[in-house]
Amino acid sequence: MAAGSASEYDVIIIGAGAAGLMCAATAGYRSRRVLVLDHANKPGKKILMSGGGRCNFTNLNSTPANFLSNNPPYCISALKRYTPQDFLDLVDRHGIEYEEKAPGQLFCRDSARDILDMLLAECDWAGAEVRLRTSVENVDETSSGYRLQTGSGGLSCESLVIASGGLSIPTMGATGFGYNVARQFGLELLPTRAGLVPFTLHPELKEQLAPLSGVSCPVDVQCHDQHFREPMLVTHRGLSGPAMLQISSYWEPGDSLAINLLPACHIAEDLFSLRKSRPQWTLGQYLARHLPKRFAQAFTELQGWRGPLQEYKNGDIEQAAHTLGQWSIKPAGTEGYRTAEVTLGGVDTRQLSSRTMAVLARPNLYFIGEVVDVTGHLGGHNFQWAWASAVAAGNDA
Ligand code: FDA
Repeated sequence: MAAGSASEYDVIIIGAGAAGLMCAATAGYRSRRVLVLDHANKPGKKILMSGGGRCNFTNLNSTPANFLSNNPPYCISALKRYTPQDFLDLVDRHGIEYEEKAPGQLFCRDSARDILDMLLAECDWAGAEVRLRTSVENVDETSSGYRLQTGSGGLSCESLVIASGGLSIPTMGATGFGYNVARQFGLELLPTRAGLVPFTLHPELKEQLAPLSGVSCPVDVQCHDQHFREPMLVTHRGLSGPAMLQISSYWEPGDSLAINLLPACHIAEDLFSLRKSRPQWTLGQYLARHLPKRFAQAFTELQGWRGPLQEYKNGDIEQAAHTLGQWSIKPAGTEGYRTAEVTLGGVDTRQLSSRTMAVLARPNLYFIGEVVDVTGHLGGHNFQWAWASAVAAGNDA
């Protein structure tokens, strides 16, 4: 049923981000009268800042295993029905140039703006209206759907889609709006925390690592039963780089990280055979063969490793190998929502339909994108979830 008056819509979507715009176009193409509301002055701010300004818009190797959730099977259906290739086909139809920077990770060649412009064009072609600078003050249920009180008057709709994102980067417009709506309609929320976020260090360790600041090296970092083999970057604030961002989503306060600085080596074996073949070599020289020179030097000094290998007893070599293979670091915390790429937790998906993203007990209220408890790994998975959950809801709302 198409709605009639100027303030009546079939579908109202709150949030003109990745998920909201994609959902609006999908529902609009079904001839639904669609309105997207956002309190920000511009749509898709996170899209514009993503991927260093070039938006890592999907990952060709995305599978449900790339997502964290208290209800892991939930994301399977939507991800299967709208795949990375489906999004890539859309990107191709718009003639957007892209490149694969790391295996599976697709980025715009020019600018993230291409993706935002594409979504806005799709909304336009589908007849979906996008209204900015509009805050929603109240949401009430009516006999035929929902009534919204906004700063500029009342609106009504049959279907309401919450696409207001998580709490990360409040300066970009993030709010807890979606969680409040969920609470209002009796839904359970899982505790939220910052994910894909750099670690901060205790002052003493930060000082010790200061000489390593700005150096990046490939590591294998482990926390609980998860590990990631990616570059780590030491910064003046703490630890960052893909390896640290990835593991931060699994880290809980008080946990230690085990960092293998030489994941491609058999460290103890190497050191024992070097002691035989090159007894004059130092541990610093060995490290410099595998790590950036500045890192090798600073790390050797940090550990107080001096003298040639021939002076090292078996136990010393084993100890050094252990330190290099399982360097244990206890972060003080994370930088939090201020710099986090994502918010973990949120609306508990056990109350939602995995086919439509609608609330099971309220089939005209939908939650999509980051507001729900589905969080991807680094590398384009979070946008893939935004697209897939948006299409699932847009085809039903
Ligand atoms: P999103 O946050 O995009 O949109 C929510 C919208 O709702 C916003 O426009 C906001 O203004 C609006 N809103 C909030 N509260 C409101 C209210 N009360 N009333 C009205 N509107 C409201 N992912 C990835 O896959 N590849 C990448 O390269 C990156 N890079 C990246 C970099 C950085 C710096 C960040 C912070 C994040 C990423 N991400 C990413 C993650 C990705 O940006 C994120 O997963 C998606 O933007 C989530 O899409 P949503 O539409 O759910 O929320």
